[in-house]
Amino acid sequence: MNIDSLLQQRLVCVAVIDKADDAVPLTEALIAGGLNCIEVTFRTAGAAESIKRIRQALPHAIVGAGTLLTADTVKAAVDAGAQFGVSPGLSEAVSKAAHDAKLPLFPGVITPSEVMAALDLGWKHLKFFPAETFGGVNALKALAGPFGHTGVKFVPTGGITAATLPNYLAVPQVAAVGGSWMAEKKLIAEKNWKQITALTAEAMKVIAAAKA
Ligand code: 3PG
Repeated sequence: MNIDSLLQQRLVCVAVIDKADDAVPLTEALIAGGLNCIEVTFRTAGAAESIKRIRQALPHAIVGAGTLLTADTVKAAVDAGAQFGVSPGLSEAVSKAAHDAKLPLFPGVITPSEVMAALDLGWKHLKFFPAETFGGVNALKALAGPFGHTGVKFVPTGGITAATLPNYLAVPQVAAVGGSWMAEKKLIAEKNWKQITALTAEAMKVIAAAKA
């Protein structure tokens, strides 16, 4: 699947899943709210198993692996069936492992030098992280100046909410926005699938309004 199809909905739910048993109901809750794209972060022991289960149970969901800090985690993500990878930063080892596995990767960047390094490594869709802490929409617009013509696209993540989502979506270089606000750890722990569906539906309404 190419990157544009992966990010077609312009929203990625970033999820920290402690128990693999929660992976499928969580993804079902997102789908009920209209979103089929989830990034399962490699911060918990259950990450690989969660990806495996979602891929098996919900073949139409688009499942990525986040928090890829090492080549080993890239391999584990690919073995589990991840369709894309996300890293908070730019690592040559992670980049090489992703290229070797033909895994689309969104490496994390903030500065112009990091954008240039990511382009040199062959990546055009870059996670802008942590977005809100490092200048938010204004910083992204400033980066679009020198890099807009390169075809670079950003996936801002970090501190974004339904309230700030429209400002990011309005930046032409923003391919999609990532965030955990619709599926926070607490909601997952409480198995509050209803609330997750409601927050997802609210976000999808914002997306639809931005497209109109
Ligand atoms: C992350 O990797 O933690 C994501 O960027 C999520 O950020 P958020 O929890 O602030 O939405």
